Amino acid sequence: MLTIQVLHGPNLNLLGKREPEIYGQQTLDTINQMLAEEARRLQIAIEFFQSNHEGALVDQIQAAMGQVQGILINPGAYTHTSVAIRDAIAAVAIPTVEVHLSNIHRREPFRHHSYIAPVAVGQISGFGAESYRLGLHALVNHLQSS
Ligand code: DQA
Repeated sequence: MLTIQVLHGPNLNLLGKREPEIYGQQTLDTINQMLAEEARRLQIAIEFFQSNHEGALVDQIQAAMGQVQGILINPGAYTHTSVAIRDAIAAVAIPTVEVHLSNIHRREPFRHHSYIAPVAVGQISGFGAESYRLGLHALVNHLQSS
């Protein structure tokens, strides 16, 4: 059975309260429950991890080596700053899909660049919580067809 590791970066623990006009009303728990339900339908296993700390996310990516077949990540603000998270994804060579609730390409210029995109299978951005669901399907399709 495929196992997918879902990683949520900084400030995503505040979803529901945090700038709801940009990030929506759903809490992180609600999004994780929706993904768990989707995983049951897809008959895959799924694990969740959120951290506000760059190193903790790097540790979790390293720990995923040999344990999971795919990573679904919303790196939050680290998308635009973290060479360390990018290098960890490249190092473990686990197929990774990058997701964002907001469309980072129509926001401030500093959000347009992603350090993660070049080491990801692909990126889904701008569909709110649906970005995660679409990302999970894209990742599972990718893994099952490769
Ligand atoms: C985000 C977009 C990032 O620019 C921002 O720093 C976040 C959330 C998103 O899901 O839209 O924290 O990754």
